[in-house]
Amino acid sequence: MWKPHAFVRSLSLLHFLFHLHSVLPLVSAKGSNTTTWNTLSVPLLFIVEFEKSVFEYGNPPLVIARGGFSGLFPDSSSNAYKFAVQASFKNVILWCDVQLTKDAQGICIPNIKLENATDIDKIFENNRTNYIVNGVPTNGYFSVDYTLKKLRSNVMLIQGDFTRSSSFDNTVFEILTVDDVVTTAAPPGLWLNIQHDSFYTQHNLSMKSFVLSVFKTVNVSYISSPEAGFLRSIKADINPKITKLVFRFMGKDDVDPSTKQTYGSLLKNLTSIKTFASGILVPKDYIWPVDPISHYLHPHTSLVSDAHKVGLEVFASTFLNDIPISYDYSYDPVAEHLSFIDNGNFSVDGVLSDFPLTSSAAIDCFAHIDNAPKKVNTLVISKYGASGDYPPCTNLAYEKAISDGADVIDCPVQMSKDGIPFCLRSIDLRESTTVDQTIFSKLSKSIPEIKSDEGIYTFDLEWNNITSLTPTMLNLFNNFQLYRNPRYNRNVSLLTLSEFLNLTKGHTSLSGVVIIIENAPYLARNQNLSVIDAVIDTLSKGGYDKLGTPNVMIQSTDSSVLLKFKEKTKYELVYTIDEVVSDVVDSAISDIKSFAHAVLLKKVCVYPNNEEFLLTGSTKIVPKFKSSNLSVYVRTFHNEFVSQAYDFLSDATVEINTFVQGAGIDGVITDFPQTANRYRRNRCLNLGNSTPPYMKPIEVGGLLQLVDKSSLPPAMAPAPTLTEADVTEPPLPPFSKIAPSSPFAGAGPGPEAQPPQNAQAKVDVCFFMSSLTVLVASLLL
Ligand SMILES: *[C@@H]1O[C@H](CO)[C@@H](O)[C@H](O)[C@H]1NC(C)=O
Ligand SMILES: *[C@@H]1O[C@H](CO)[C@@H](O)[C@H](O)[C@H]1NC(C)=O
Ligand SMILES: *[C@@H]1O[C@H](CO)[C@@H](O)[C@H](O)[C@H]1NC(C)=O
Ligand SMILES: *[C@@H]1O[C@H](CO)[C@@H](O)[C@H](O)[C@H]1NC(C)=O
Ligand SMILES: *[C@@H]1O[C@H](CO)[C@@H](O)[C@H](O)[C@H]1NC(C)=O
Ligand SMILES: *[C@@H]1O[C@H](CO)[C@@H](O)[C@H](O)[C@H]1NC(C)=O
Ligand SMILES: *[C@@H]1O[C@H](CO)[C@@H](O)[C@H](O)[C@H]1NC(C)=O
Ligand SMILES: *[C@@H]1O[C@H](CO)[C@@H](O)[C@H](O)[C@H]1NC(C)=O
Ligand SMILES: *[C@@H]1O[C@H](CO)[C@@H](O)[C@H](O)[C@H]1NC(C)=O
Ligand SMILES: *[C@@H]1O[C@H](CO)[C@@H](O)[C@H](O)[C@H]1NC(C)=O
Ligand SMILES: *[C@@H]1O[C@H](CO)[C@@H](O)[C@H](O)[C@H]1NC(C)=O
Ligand SMILES: *[C@@H]1O[C@H](CO)[C@@H](O)[C@H](O)[C@H]1NC(C)=O
Repeated sequence: MWKPHAFVRSLSLLHFLFHLHSVLPLVSAKGSNTTTWNTLSVPLLFIVEFEKSVFEYGNPPLVIARGGFSGLFPDSSSNAYKFAVQASFKNVILWCDVQLTKDAQGICIPNIKLENATDIDKIFENNRTNYIVNGVPTNGYFSVDYTLKKLRSNVMLIQGDFTRSSSFDNTVFEILTVDDVVTTAAPPGLWLNIQHDSFYTQHNLSMKSFVLSVFKTVNVSYISSPEAGFLRSIKADINPKITKLVFRFMGKDDVDPSTKQTYGSLLKNLTSIKTFASGILVPKDYIWPVDPISHYLHPHTSLVSDAHKVGLEVFASTFLNDIPISYDYSYDPVAEHLSFIDNGNFSVDGVLSDFPLTSSAAIDCFAHIDNAPKKVNTLVISKYGASGDYPPCTNLAYEKAISDGADVIDCPVQMSKDGIPFCLRSIDLRESTTVDQTIFSKLSKSIPEIKSDEGIYTFDLEWNNITSLTPTMLNLFNNFQLYRNPRYNRNVSLLTLSEFLNLTKGHTSLSGVVIIIENAPYLARNQNLSVIDAVIDTLSKGGYDKLGTPNVMIQSTDSSVLLKFKEKTKYELVYTIDEVVSDVVDSAISDIKSFAHAVLLKKVCVYPNNEEFLLTGSTKIVPKFKSSNLSVYVRTFHNEFVSQAYDFLSDATVEINTFVQGAGIDGVITDFPQTANRYRRNRCLNLGNSTPPYMKPIEVGGLLQLVDKSSLPPAMAPAPTLTEADVTEPPLPPFSKIAPSSPFAGAGPGPEAQPPQNAQAKVDVCFFMSSLTVLVASLLL
């Protein structure tokens, strides 16, 4: 029997995780009055509540939660199923992969080999068996060898996907029968997948009898199988008003054991599928093929339209947030969903998903919102332009950031030897160009004041020479094989500050630019280069010092730089806090207020996480700054799922939403401005108490409550507090009296006294990276 204690405990924790309201309103009916879904479903007439008008709709696509919220909790576990119901679209359907025990009981386990998703190999050691599965000799643990009682009294469900966290595996996850799923999670709909009817038939166990026995107590919405023979055998026994049969396609070269035909050949005659099924479930690439070598999309096939023509519904599998998806989607799972449900041409009738929250949001909040107005005023500030898609700080990165809807684009200003200010993410050309492969590689030198290892510095090359260099892509996550748009247009160029400013002209969507200045004291003292004067001069020549021109922000980690701008200009000043801090003293705030209008924080200063990549809570730092009228911007929001704490469910939108709605930040710095901008326009914002669960900020620290405390590493001390001493800087030095040394001499810094460092300690081996390291370790296990 299932354990009521465990149920109560985990339910209350889940409740804690997502303030649950038992009755959620159907948002889609309110949000959009003109939505037409290109799904198969015969258009129904819906009355839009407050418009009192009648419009034609197809049904929105269904969300089918594969094993519940299996992207987070062990597949088919009680928490996975309950969380799926709580976090998803109102009519979410729970998917169960049915396996039969020796005593013909149906249990939900995603794989015919039980060790794939349970701890059975530790419980019944050395008791593997060999059976033929679909013609292939297979070694493992099979449910046909165990009675339900034996399995339930010993074996627990665990996370079977090594790339996912095992933090949520704990003793409450006993194996569920189909009936248990219904009593535990009260799903709006149930989907039984019968993957291996032939195998169980060989073992004298009848899936058909089992399924018919389920019908006595439960209305099953869908039954799918990759075996046409099974669906044919059961067709006469189902009530088509209650249960739909769906033929599941596997790989095109795989063979249906019941017909001995490949799925590729079965696909050629959809009319014949229609004789025993009302729908098909296909791998996503049947619809949007992904090139196996390049990982870019091919044009979509006509499968959805073809199937709709013969009256078959089409379901696509499997939507996962935590694997690499085609480059075309820029690592945004919402974008992937939209290509299946909102492409102007067709929509699938349902998505099979391990992350039903993302699927629900895509359908209910993001589909058909083109040109919707912004619902929140959070600024979207680019990070080196749209550097998730193009090499940082190049013309294409900036153009993409503008067309993606960024409000503010950013230029980190560097100085060339001939005094031209230009945009590049680092003073070391090596970090973002191929300078190492050019004659200029001999300019490599060590300047400890700037960085610990050698660099090839911008102030050693003339602008003409810098323009001859090839900018490179910033691949932050290549350790995870998550590369960024490798086939980008190579015709990219770097821009001078004045070209950058010129690029912004005529784009009314842009509200401003941010100019980032670092290393100003060093450049003034050692290179006789005044980056401040160069910037002020260029801005003024570009007409940016007049009223009505786009807003200019100046951003720096140096308070002395900001003070200088405060003296000379009226620009908005942004103070970058490079350290990982968890609090800030009042005197530091008033100090910051004396030279800045806004602060820029790292994400971990707002929501710290532990080594397991789980959020531990929220700091008071944002409300403290905001109550002193300092705006708070936060960096850096990446789309790649490895950059987000598990709490954000591998969905960049969930992370942004939590920082915006949960922490109330004023701006996001992101290398994927399209995702942040799309977020601001989704129709589920500003709905007050009617906000659906998938657009609520996550309950920070909620997941940590679900983790078995004994498995946690010792809690870490909180990050330090930002004090006044961290903020105060010595004034900017005057220009050097000596000429800079000849670049080709390869000399290090001159013999002058060691200059004072920026007062902020460089605790740069930040939290975030150490957490990623932990994740790498878990990937390698
Ligand atoms: C749909 O709603 C918008 C406002 O949300 C309104 O301006 C528009 O007229 C409505 N369209 C129809 C066809 O009623
Ligand atoms: C379970 O099966 C999946 C898919 O075949 C595989 O990716 C995963 O590694 C397996 N896990 C275990 C624990 O065997
Ligand atoms: C081991 O597997 C056999 C079937 O191969 C089964 O009959 C037996 O009960 C299993 N042993 C245990 C300890 O479960
Ligand atoms: C299934 O039943 C048949 C006939 O009743 C029997 O010959 C066969 O051995 C059984 N197979 C298994 C795997 O129990
Ligand atoms: C199944 O559906 C029918 C018709 O919709 C309904 O009358 C019946 O109460 C349902 N049964 C269960 C167990 O939900
Ligand atoms: C497709 O299947 C239908 C129904 O089974 C059959 O009538 C038809 O001839 C088949 N078409 C082709 C091209 O095989
Ligand atoms: C839409 O579908 C039709 C027919 O399936 C096809 O001819 C057309 O090219 C498609 N358009 C786009 C933009 O995919
Ligand atoms: C650097 O630029 C100067 C001026 O344009 C040019 O004369 C020189 O050849 C360039 N050096 C190299 C190595 O390209
Ligand atoms: C590269 O872009 C520039 C303008 O940005 C354009 O003038 C030039 O023709 C392009 N070259 C190629 C090969 O596309
Ligand atoms: C500014 O851009 C326009 C076209 O967008 C171009 O014609 C002009 O030369 C540019 N000016 C500068 C200084 O780059
Ligand atoms: C913040 O600004 C508001 C209005 O601009 C003002 O009333 C308030 O006193 C300010 N608070 C602080 C702490 O400066
Ligand atoms: C420093 O630069 C200024 C112009 O920016 C120039 O007038 C001065 O001669 C330079 N000093 C040295 C020592 O090169």
